[in-house]
Amino acid sequence: MSFRELPKIELHLHLEGAAPPALIRDIAKEKHTDISGAFDERGAYAFKDFPQFLKVYEAATSVLTSPRDYGRLTRAVLENCADQGAIYVESFLSPDFCGGGDVHAWRDYLAEIEEASREAERDTGIIHKGIVTCIRHFGPEAAKPIALCAAETAGDFIRGFGMGGDETVGHAGDYAWAFDCAREAGLEITSHAGEWGGPESIRETLRDLRPTRIGHGVGCFRDHALIDTLLENDITLEICPGSNVALGLFPSFTAHPIARLRDAGLKITVSTDDPPFFHTSLTREYEELSRAFGWTETDFSEINETALAAAFCDDETKTKLR
Ligand code: ADE
Ligand code: ZN
Repeated sequence: MSFRELPKIELHLHLEGAAPPALIRDIAKEKHTDISGAFDERGAYAFKDFPQFLKVYEAATSVLTSPRDYGRLTRAVLENCADQGAIYVESFLSPDFCGGGDVHAWRDYLAEIEEASREAERDTGIIHKGIVTCIRHFGPEAAKPIALCAAETAGDFIRGFGMGGDETVGHAGDYAWAFDCAREAGLEITSHAGEWGGPESIRETLRDLRPTRIGHGVGCFRDHALIDTLLENDITLEICPGSNVALGLFPSFTAHPIARLRDAGLKITVSTDDPPFFHTSLTREYEELSRAFGWTETDFSEINETALAAAFCDDETKTKLR
């Protein structure tokens, strides 16, 4: 069996970040919008560092202006995920981009995303759940209506609440109101931390947002006390090695700390973050990790079991996937 066919669980995928460049160009053309600056001469997303990545991400997303656009996006993304062997995917959904944080508009976007997800499940068997996500560099006040959107739509499809964006802005605790609101509505909690922010950012996130999972979290790798804290709190890391390498956090897969974190006993999982931006796919992540660390199908099956255990879906869905 090749890694492509291995059944996979993906826990960390930004819906807009998974948009095929050709789809974004088609939609831009239909709307007579020029976003050619977002692409290089080969048609790939073009950026040279994380701040520029965020700008290009937001420029590409700016052409997605209707629920119908998000339906098209969801169909394209889930088709690609299924093609990579993914059987279960959680994606980050941003009401900031889907109706500007207005809950009525958000419901319309969500209806299309859910319909596209049902179609994908019917066609390929893939199961998709959503994690509503606020964006850190939009600030704590902007995060509040996003949490209300999440709380209002919590249910079988919207399972969690999270935060992406620029981790160097402010403190995790600034967003505690939003996370408390989402938690009170029954949502599971994850947050990006320890991608750009280092150990202190992870500590603040654990203390102030109380997640069960951390997006990336790789910044803990030199801090043994923090690794112990992550172990004691049973935290699962959503690690995206190809994203970290593409954005320059580590020079190569070989230099990435994922294997050291796994050896330390941490619950690690493997995801793609924003695959077309980083010229990656789930299969490529597995192939690169296998090349770098000698991991085999047995290792990846164990990693996928960890991912399924930490997934935000209900137990019935987990049983079906086992
Ligand atoms: N949004 C999309 N990709 C992201 C990343 N790698 N870090 C923070 N926010 C993001
Ligand atoms: Zn991410």
